[in-house]
Amino acid sequence: MRFHRSPLLPATLALLACLALTACGPGKDTHPGQPVTKREAIFKQFLRTSEPIGMMLRGSKPFEAQQVQQLAARLKALSTKPWQHFPQGSTYYPSRAKPAVWEKPAQFKAAQDRFIHAADQLARAAQSGNPDAVRPAFRELSASCDACHQTFRGPPRF
Ligand code: HEC
Repeated sequence: MRFHRSPLLPATLALLACLALTACGPGKDTHPGQPVTKREAIFKQFLRTSEPIGMMLRGSKPFEAQQVQQLAARLKALSTKPWQHFPQGSTYYPSRAKPAVWEKPAQFKAAQDRFIHAADQLARAAQSGNPDAVRPAFRELSASCDACHQTFRGPPRF
């Protein structure tokens, strides 16, 4: 077949392989230490521990004092974990970290400290088992997530 001798065929196949890979997701993180994969996994745990508390406070789930205590304790334990996984310039795909992470290290550290403190306060408030004590602590926690994202996290990359 003439088509087999076409110089375009290898390029076409390479392109198709690329598209197939993209469709399957970002693929394996081959960077030393896999910092983007590691911090992403911890941030996902942030969501898994904080979201159910928010749902209980909003009333879309019954308030379970013991569950809130456990979730808040886990979030507090996780709160110090992602920051070691931001080595200089680790912005490779699919990272959403902005250059500000490395350009404004003191501000990035301050945003971490605010959040770590908020997670600690939330864990303390959760001990009370009282939603009225948990609510303001949770509000400050969420504000600390948002404040950091505003400066240090960019839009999703496709
Ligand atoms: C001190 C800064 C900071 C704080 C505080 C913070 N984040 Fe983030 N978060 C980031 C940065 C930077 C990224 C982007 C990381 C990347 O893509 O390389 C991110 C990414 C994420 C992601 C995306 C992970 C993925 O799937 O790619 C989620 C979800 C997330 N954060 C949730 C939270 C929640 C929930 C909180 C609070 C409970 C929180 N973050 C607190 C800085 C922060």
